[in-house]
Amino acid sequence: MSPDDQAMLELDDIQAGLVHPRPTRYAGAVLLGRIDNPRDGRELLRRVIPLIPSAAGSPEPHQEGWAAVALSFRGLKALGVPEDSLASFPAEFQAGMAARAAELGDTGESAPERWEQPLGRDDVHLAIYALAPDAARLEEALDGAREALRDVPGVALIWEQGTYMLPTERTSFGFKDGISNPAIEGSGIFGTNPQEEPFMSGVFMLGYPNDSHALPPMPTPEVLARNGSYVVFRKLQTRVAEYRQYLRSRAKSREDEALLAAKFVGRWPSGAPLALAPERDDPKLGADPNRNNAFLYAADDARGLKCPLGAHVRRAYARDAKIIGVPRLHRMIRRSSSYGPMLPDGVLEDDGADRGILFFGLQANLTRGFEFVKSQWINEGIFIGMPSEMDPLVGPNDETRMFTVPQQPIRRRVTELPQFVVNRGGEYLFMPGRRALGWIAGLDS
Ligand code: HEM
Repeated sequence: MSPDDQAMLELDDIQAGLVHPRPTRYAGAVLLGRIDNPRDGRELLRRVIPLIPSAAGSPEPHQEGWAAVALSFRGLKALGVPEDSLASFPAEFQAGMAARAAELGDTGESAPERWEQPLGRDDVHLAIYALAPDAARLEEALDGAREALRDVPGVALIWEQGTYMLPTERTSFGFKDGISNPAIEGSGIFGTNPQEEPFMSGVFMLGYPNDSHALPPMPTPEVLARNGSYVVFRKLQTRVAEYRQYLRSRAKSREDEALLAAKFVGRWPSGAPLALAPERDDPKLGADPNRNNAFLYAADDARGLKCPLGAHVRRAYARDAKIIGVPRLHRMIRRSSSYGPMLPDGVLEDDGADRGILFFGLQANLTRGFEFVKSQWINEGIFIGMPSEMDPLVGPNDETRMFTVPQQPIRRRVTELPQFVVNRGGEYLFMPGRRALGWIAGLDS
């Protein structure tokens, strides 16, 4: 694989939506649709394609907003994609997220039977992710989309969820998110860690070699697969009051409460990483995009005395730390954002509001990407030699697990961790390239 091959990455065909870093401020919405009539479904695609910018353009939304489109396996079927092509998609994508619940730890309160309707149902066919610079322009764009939907009676809008980024860029637990993402070789899509080698584009997009210099398996025909990516979508509800109460009950002081919270995440609320700011928050560091992700673990923090081995960010991507396995093989692009109102600072009582993040993870291989990260790194601790621990923040804890904070002279342990994040539902989607969308729209069946 020569650098020239990488330069051929067809950015003008790749959908910008989830590949580009988010603009600094935006309002967004996810719309889910059911396709009852293939012709109408294809007509809707034809209408939406002009609204989809390519990754070759600017990451800032156009004045009137823009969209990204992805399809579930059943959506591809509902649009009339031929059987032999459908059969060429990977088994876990064909099965859909709900069918993978046992592997993903979506049990108990996160079990598909308890998901918000229609999430996980067979009639989730199409997802449109709309983005605009502010709520007013988003509404205008959505009105247009809703009107287009009314004009094509064979497609029904079955779910809509607003999402946004606060000016503080913090999510409901109070921490800045969306800091760490990979650079993609030859794409002009920059990563955020200067110490992390760029990834081959085939880790994230179909049609290109991955880090093993192998072409990942692709569905057929090539025109459908090329420049596509698998998108994991999950509506993750955060139990903020319970999380705050738990921290308060285990901390020795307010200062200790802030430290324990940072140890759960691996960063401080400002985004400053524990690896670089082990003792207290450093808002300047957190706000500095050139420094807030410029770190590795092996040389300075091999034992996790700064950032615990089991902290959310270190589990989710252990960088160069010594673990069982190779972190680089399982990298995803993440583009999550918030939904629901924030629980005001300092409030410890639950107000009953639904809040959390809409999680989006992109990869060329679902088994290697999300499914591996969720099942092995978030839900298990074998890879870091702590088999009985899960991710303290986002793992499916059940009050029988603990979290170890390495420190001297003796480690600290907090026990009986409850579940702070509940999956309200989701789906595996395929985000085709723009040409591929045109190909689907032009099918005749
Ligand atoms: C409500 C649920 C979640 C919350 C509140 C949350 C929050 C965060 C925060 C605050 C960060 C640090 C900011 C950054 O490094 O960009 C982060 C990083 C990350 N999270 Fe999550 N997260 C959630 C769920 C998940 C899930 C389900 C996964 C994967 C299955 C995941 C994977 C990652 C990864 C890969 C990173 C980047 C780690 C790195 O590169 O250093 N997160 N998350």
